[in-house]
Amino acid sequence: RWGLETDWIGKNIIHKESTTSTQHIAHDEARNGAAHGTIIIADEQTKGKGRMNRSWFSTKGKGMWLSIILRPEIAPQQAPQLTLLTATVLADVLQSYCNVKPLIKWPNDILLNNKKTAGILTEMQAEQDIINYIVIGIGLNVNQSTLELSEEIRHKATSLYIETEKENSINALIQEILMTFEKSYDQYIKNGFPDIKQKWESYGFKIGEEITIKTIKDHFHATFLGIEEDGALRIKRTDGSIQRLYSAEIDWFDK
Ligand code: BTN
Repeated sequence: RWGLETDWIGKNIIHKESTTSTQHIAHDEARNGAAHGTIIIADEQTKGKGRMNRSWFSTKGKGMWLSIILRPEIAPQQAPQLTLLTATVLADVLQSYCNVKPLIKWPNDILLNNKKTAGILTEMQAEQDIINYIVIGIGLNVNQSTLELSEEIRHKATSLYIETEKENSINALIQEILMTFEKSYDQYIKNGFPDIKQKWESYGFKIGEEITIKTIKDHFHATFLGIEEDGALRIKRTDGSIQRLYSAEIDWFDK
């Protein structure tokens, strides 16, 4: 059914018509020993999870809602690199397969026309500096019309259908994304992060420009210089100092 030509990803695919969140299932499966490369896919999620405790709208059949279980032999501090890798995979597939011009908003929102079309949620289980498993959740808005996007997010979200006026096959996108992911992951394990960093920066939203940054305690302007080897946001403050930020957000209404 899934037509995957891969070595290790998606050898085990768990498909649910409806579930709370593919992340929940992935954690359960991973705790029970699911192999590296196991995929959980749902047609619908009733409690889709976004970053920062937000919810993620996951309407039946309208998008790609999936989670990937990985057991990488890397240090926990390197895990953010895998999130950035995933963002470049999505951008590559959208660009080559759907003929659109995606940008990546740090750390991992995929934008079309400055609106979010996909998001990535990475969760990790590690102990004493050893990763037990990582779950990478990907939500990609595919076939929603504007009215089918919830009112709450309509001003800042979009879908492939809205941007291209074409319906896309979710299965075909799953194939492309998983095959591209496997290639990119294998290269990353072999060659490290530099190629991914370069690719990420080629898609980077607002690189070289002034952005507004929100952290838990702060809100300020800075120039976005790029990303660091470890995936941190590299900025120049108005006083000229260069900083790296791990946990921050680029303000949305700052286009
Ligand atoms: C974000 O906040 O941008 C991340 C959104 C991640 C959504 C995906 S959909 C599949 C997987 N299951 C979830 O509950 N969340 C992720």
